Amino acid sequence: MPTEVNQPVSMIDPSQLLRPEAAFNDKPIEAFRDYSIDDGDPIKERVRRTYYEQHTNMTVDLVKQKREKWLKFNHFKATIKDALIKLNELVDESDPDSDLPNIVHAFQTAERIREEHPDEDWYHLTGLIHDLGKVMAFYDEPQWCVVGDTFVVGCKWADSIVYGPESFKDNPDTYNPKYNTKYGMYEPNCGLDKLWISWSHDEYLYQFLQHNKAKIPLKGQYMIRYHSFYPWHAGGDYRHLTTEKDEEVLQWVLDFNKYDLYTKSEKVPDIEALWPYYEGLIEKYIPGVCEF
Ligand SMILES: [Fe+2]
Ligand SMILES: [Fe+2]
Repeated sequence: MPTEVNQPVSMIDPSQLLRPEAAFNDKPIEAFRDYSIDDGDPIKERVRRTYYEQHTNMTVDLVKQKREKWLKFNHFKATIKDALIKLNELVDESDPDSDLPNIVHAFQTAERIREEHPDEDWYHLTGLIHDLGKVMAFYDEPQWCVVGDTFVVGCKWADSIVYGPESFKDNPDTYNPKYNTKYGMYEPNCGLDKLWISWSHDEYLYQFLQHNKAKIPLKGQYMIRYHSFYPWHAGGDYRHLTTEKDEEVLQWVLDFNKYDLYTKSEKVPDIEALWPYYEGLIEKYIPGVCEF
């Protein structure tokens, strides 16, 4: 595991913060997506700042650079279990009161899936590891490059992106005619997997699973790859770029999303007791030491 970067890293995921406890409440999820900025709430302010930074800096060039940096998988080597534990230590240190430790969220997500899909063990593991890409935070990646909702770069900013297209006013791609039209650098209906998504833990972990030859079915890998892609899976944008076939992926992502919701009211699972079961799944689907 990494040793060179030990400073605390702020790891509140704005994607999560905007949707607290939605699964255990009668309110529609939209009711939690409250982006008002005038009430002086420091967490809201922080969420807003993170997104504005993300929207200012996330260009086609930046995504290219991040892909070059991370898709070499030469940062560290670890088993999935050790990486999950390590990620948790980092998050715990930095934000003790603001949210559940990452590993609790990982086990809660996995166990909720297991309750409803008892026979699909690959799905349980998908739940457990879906946020593991946040290990990028060990390597000086700013929060806005790791967490938060994702969107497509290289074409017009979608209306349903958090804080709207206006939040990209300081992004150079906004003024680049190659990238600021309806289709931008894409062909009509080119398909979901041709799109360059803003860099985050989703794409990194998907690529990691491919690189390390994980045997998790593609369905699970796609749930991971697009779980933060709210403008597509919740906002209904980008249909001019996707295909009929992608609607099937959408159903997978929407199913996964039901389980990936934060709550502080839910009971904390007995992680020690659950590890043997999940270690078995790791052994089955992505064993040994992996390259991150
Ligand atoms: Fe996530
Ligand atoms: Fe999550």
